[in-house]
Amino acid sequence: MTETPSLAFTEIDLDSIASAEGRVAVFISPSGKLDQTARRVNRLTRGALERFAESKAFAKLREGEARDLAWPTGLAAEALQVVKLDRRPDGEEARKAGIAIGRAARGKSVLVLAGNIRGIEDLALGALLRAYDFTDHRSKKDDDAGDDGASPGSLTFMCSKPEEAEAAAADVPALAQGVFFTRDLVNAPSNVLTTTAFADTLKALSKLGAKVTVLEEDKLEKLGMRALLGVGQGSESPSKVVVIEWNGGGKGERPFALVGKGVVFDTGGISLKPAGGMEDMTMDMGGAGVVAGVMKALALRKAKANVVGLVGLVENMPDGRAQRPGDVVTSMKGDTIEVINTDAEGRLVLCDVIWYAQETYDPVGMVDLATLTGAIIIGLGHENAGVFSNDDNLCEAFLAAARAEGEGAWRMPLGDGYDKQLKSRIADMKNVGGRPAGSITAAQFLKRFVKDETPWIHLDIAGVASLKTEGPHAPKGATGWGVLALNRLIADRFETGS
Ligand code: BES
Ligand code: MN
Ligand code: ZN
Repeated sequence: MTETPSLAFTEIDLDSIASAEGRVAVFISPSGKLDQTARRVNRLTRGALERFAESKAFAKLREGEARDLAWPTGLAAEALQVVKLDRRPDGEEARKAGIAIGRAARGKSVLVLAGNIRGIEDLALGALLRAYDFTDHRSKKDDDAGDDGASPGSLTFMCSKPEEAEAAAADVPALAQGVFFTRDLVNAPSNVLTTTAFADTLKALSKLGAKVTVLEEDKLEKLGMRALLGVGQGSESPSKVVVIEWNGGGKGERPFALVGKGVVFDTGGISLKPAGGMEDMTMDMGGAGVVAGVMKALALRKAKANVVGLVGLVENMPDGRAQRPGDVVTSMKGDTIEVINTDAEGRLVLCDVIWYAQETYDPVGMVDLATLTGAIIIGLGHENAGVFSNDDNLCEAFLAAARAEGEGAWRMPLGDGYDKQLKSRIADMKNVGGRPAGSITAAQFLKRFVKDETPWIHLDIAGVASLKTEGPHAPKGATGWGVLALNRLIADRFETGS
């Protein structure tokens, strides 16, 4: 488990700056103004800060960007990071500045001279999120990282009102730990994160007060989840559904439901994928990973809402027992599905979990997340997740939450016209709709398992769950996309006032 750096807020103590070890971050406003702490740093470094503020290099920096002055004279610190930021940044700029600080932190202790800057909570969240590094499987630790090479480091914000800042940032560690949880799960290789290991990891959420139930294959069989079980039947790892209940809201209040696709590895099954890039399918449990991260964040911050998270954990393997193209399975709902392509397995997993969620929990609303289609990457690339919904109100609320958190999300259409692509000659439907509108037909497939009265959002996160390049607040690899937006949606819409 990757730990988040520790977070602390302290009073302004100018005399302690010179001896601070590790890194020191200081802010200069775009107009070149130095605050009280920056003036002290300037004096200690014999005017270096002022000279930097007058340089072309500083002029070139955009708001929220930073430069390192290494081994600064007059300071015990090994680096002085100068961040260009107004005293009253908007949330986005503050987050960006925090990201610059976290990116450079690399497990060290960082003293952030925040003075009376606004939005310290956004600075702190940005810094914590970007301080992530997935080191579980590196035998040699990074030489440049903190003392023991594996320490998560620490962030101390020296500011004029530390109690206020600490209160404003009260939820920041919970959010960062939720996002780190998602990233660790999504980054984990599939020989490590089997369905069983995944379920065991989720069970640990009960220590935080969540109720965790694991439904094993015999139970899933009894429930009639043949669509889900068909996907996993070629794997040595048993299929499971894990239910995480967080009941922080009113007794008897209907919960909000989150459903995640948890294909721990997707070979495509008998409709085998080509070798090139197949290793990327370790992230095909990304939807389940986000559900896990949100549930962890809610539990850690003791959210005043009832939320149930359900994940379908399976592995899609080719084998003597594996499902064949042409097989017909009966879903828990009772609808029959002709499996034309065993690689369109996500919808087969989700349809049963979605149905089970509604039958068991009668949710006030439901969001499913899945790395569902390559087609969504063709449509939206890696900037936006595809958003599909049967409820404008809920959908707008989600899009607003995603915008506020800087998580790209773009609404896509649904429509009965697409249903004809799913017609099967011998069953109620087939599991693929051909090349045109591949992400939409996948969403139309899921919609058949959503009751008309359930406000529902489907998020196709195939393009955003894991990146080959650095993300907005993550290094290469898993992003944790969606944890912040869903947390905010729940806080804004379903949480009873504190
Ligand atoms: N897990 C994949 C989708 C995917 C592709 C996720 C790329 C992340 C990156 C999904 O199970 C899949 O294989 N979808 C097929 C569907 C097709 C057979 C209808 C696809 O997109 O090609
Ligand atoms: Mn697939
Ligand atoms: Zn898949």
